[in-house]
Amino acid sequence: MSTAPVVLVTGGAGYIGSHTLIALHEAGYAPVVVDNLDNASLRAIERVRALTQAQIPFHQVDLRDGPALSQVVAQHQPQACIHFAGLKAVGESVAQPLRYYHNNLLGTMELLRVLEEAECFHMVFSSSATVYGDAQEMPLTEDVPLSATNPYGRTKLFIEHMLFDVAAAQKRWRCMNLRYFNPVGAHPSGQIGEDPSGIPNNLMPFITQVAVGRRPHLQIFGDDYSTPDGTGVRDYIHVVDLAKAHVAALAALPKITGCEAVNVGTGRGSSVLEVLRAMEAASGRAIPYQVAPRRAGDVAVSYADPSKAQRLLGWQAEHDLTAMCQDAWRWQEQNPQGYAG
Ligand code: NAD
Ligand code: UFG
Repeated sequence: MSTAPVVLVTGGAGYIGSHTLIALHEAGYAPVVVDNLDNASLRAIERVRALTQAQIPFHQVDLRDGPALSQVVAQHQPQACIHFAGLKAVGESVAQPLRYYHNNLLGTMELLRVLEEAECFHMVFSSSATVYGDAQEMPLTEDVPLSATNPYGRTKLFIEHMLFDVAAAQKRWRCMNLRYFNPVGAHPSGQIGEDPSGIPNNLMPFITQVAVGRRPHLQIFGDDYSTPDGTGVRDYIHVVDLAKAHVAALAALPKITGCEAVNVGTGRGSSVLEVLRAMEAASGRAIPYQVAPRRAGDVAVSYADPSKAQRLLGWQAEHDLTAMCQDAWRWQEQNPQGYAG
């Protein structure tokens, strides 16, 4: 029997989760996936199994189904949990706030209850730079006052508070709230990547769909920000680097007490036009665009101070924007219709 530490990965069939399964396997962990497939395809799991040559267990379970979740936890007895499962579309959360609160908050509450029962007290949680609201001072450090500008962001904020509260009440808890900046890119194999349903909300999948011919042009939301070229600036982080940050966070849990929040970004900002040019170079294709009005709720600039991740996790990003675009393009070119193709 294998002695690899078992890690429960909620939302493991999704974009970031599937990449993290590979990083976990490579680091000697035994991941077990729980996902309701609400926003994912079983093909992602099949491809991860093929890439790793490992029979990663998969359970199609909704986190809000306590008895089913308990059964999975009793069967595998995880030593830690990486909690990705949640709904993540900002605009949808404004239109359907109750669906977001129900899914993200109740799902997390049920998960925490089941893990406590099983005495599994180690957790890495997918938080987001969205918890910095519209903070203006860059780079963003973890002690910037937190706020939220939409229901999705509020679920992240509430869950961070929830984890601080449970860790204060039960001293065996160790939680790492990883605040991701803008995850992009794909596994270098081109076998797994981001596969948004419907029209992509985020820049990178939209750009790759234009490059591959699925959409006629990109809309750039505003070119009159006070940034060097007038377009919005973000801290894009390669999903493989992000996956490795989760492995580093798991390894660091024993040396912290309670809960810690950690930024996961590169510390460098890129504008929309820079990303577009980098993707043109990676794909060898022209990417037509039109300038449109600013998108409601967007900030001009957002990038991380990632020094705490280096200090606490011994982690730093390794991939630059060129690599992010090359890998995102390889995935899109090999899978023009995503997993459905
Ligand atoms: P994703 O949608 O690809 O993955 C989330 C997964 O969770 C999906 O596979 C979905 O089917 C599953 N899921 C949702 N609700 C569930 C439930 N109740 N029970 C079981 N499974 C459920 O998203 P992603 O981009 O991989 O993001 C992962 C996490 O990181 C999310 O919590 C997201 O909010 C957070 N995050 C993402 C970004 C980003 O830009 N991608 C940025 C910051 C934070
Ligand atoms: N943009 C365009 N056109 C598009 C899409 C985006 O010009 O079609 C611009 C935006 O205006 C912004 C930049 O590209 O300047 C990045 O936008 P994204 O939608 O890719 O990313 P955001 O920074 O708006 O938001 C993302 C996630 C949020 C998360 C946040 C911080 O979608 O969930 O990063 O982690 F909260």
